[in-house]
Amino acid sequence: MSLEHHQIQASFDKAAKQYEQHAVLQKEALVRLIERLGDDYLGDQQKAAPEQILDLGCGTGWAVPELLQLFPQAQIIAADFAPSMVNAVPKHPQVETRITDAHAIDVHAQNCDLVFSNLMIQWCDEATVLQEIKRALKPGGLMHLTTMGEHTLHELKLAWQQIDDQPHVNEFVPAAKIADLTMQLGFADVIADSEFITMTYGNVIDMMRDLKNIGAHNVDNNRTKGLTSPKVIKQLTKNFEEFRTEDGLYPATYELVYLRAKKPGEDKGLPVKIKS
Ligand SMILES: C[S@@+](CC[C@H](N)C(=O)[O-])C[C@H]1O[C@@H](n2cnc3c(N)ncnc32)[C@H](O)[C@@H]1O
Repeated sequence: MSLEHHQIQASFDKAAKQYEQHAVLQKEALVRLIERLGDDYLGDQQKAAPEQILDLGCGTGWAVPELLQLFPQAQIIAADFAPSMVNAVPKHPQVETRITDAHAIDVHAQNCDLVFSNLMIQWCDEATVLQEIKRALKPGGLMHLTTMGEHTLHELKLAWQQIDDQPHVNEFVPAAKIADLTMQLGFADVIADSEFITMTYGNVIDMMRDLKNIGAHNVDNNRTKGLTSPKVIKQLTKNFEEFRTEDGLYPATYELVYLRAKKPGEDKGLPVKIKS
């Protein structure tokens, strides 16, 4: 992705306070991703419950209570590169917080049974982060993550395209491509699939504000002041006409991609204690 790293970090750091209030899509994705863990850990193929979990790009730690409910014995490392996000993670004796960049994860190699990551990797260099996840996993350990697919926010993209040819919506990697990459990097049992989730808004301003508040806007736009002037908003609203729902609402459709993979090998021995 062409996005600049420090801008993304600053954007999320600023968004921490109002994140949970606006991140409806993220919460929905989180619930669905947690449900999918059940296929590996609660189904017929039951895998031993993970003892060490890394929640990568943990945000305000929304997943923490859900993970502890599913795996009451687990130790969780909640990691994010935005300090304000990490500071918001609920305190719990089994939870350790880390301010760390997913491109160079600050955990011991082969320490984790499960790396869980909800809607973070689309902000990153995917290959680097997948390699880091593999390094953090024990042999036999699992990665479960969500990301955005290429069709995400297609209505907004088309509405903007009629105004100018600037990139107003982030470009996301197709699901098949990220699955290929995961296999090339040596993961096993790779499963990728996607589904569409449509959020609706009363007007385009509310939609744009939501994207900004959750740090999901195209950060490149920050540089060009005045792009969302009343005149542009009016034009954007007009361009959205063809997409309006029967109820007259403005849709923002997300392609939610699920990626599940295993680090090859069998888990041998007890988990290594992480260094504090
Ligand atoms: C959309 S939020 C999701 C937060 C959380 N997983 C949830 O489900 O609520 C994405 C998070 O990824 C973090 N993030 C983005 N790039 C990162 C990176 N390179 N390293 C660590 N965290 C990153 C952001 O700071 C943000 O908290």
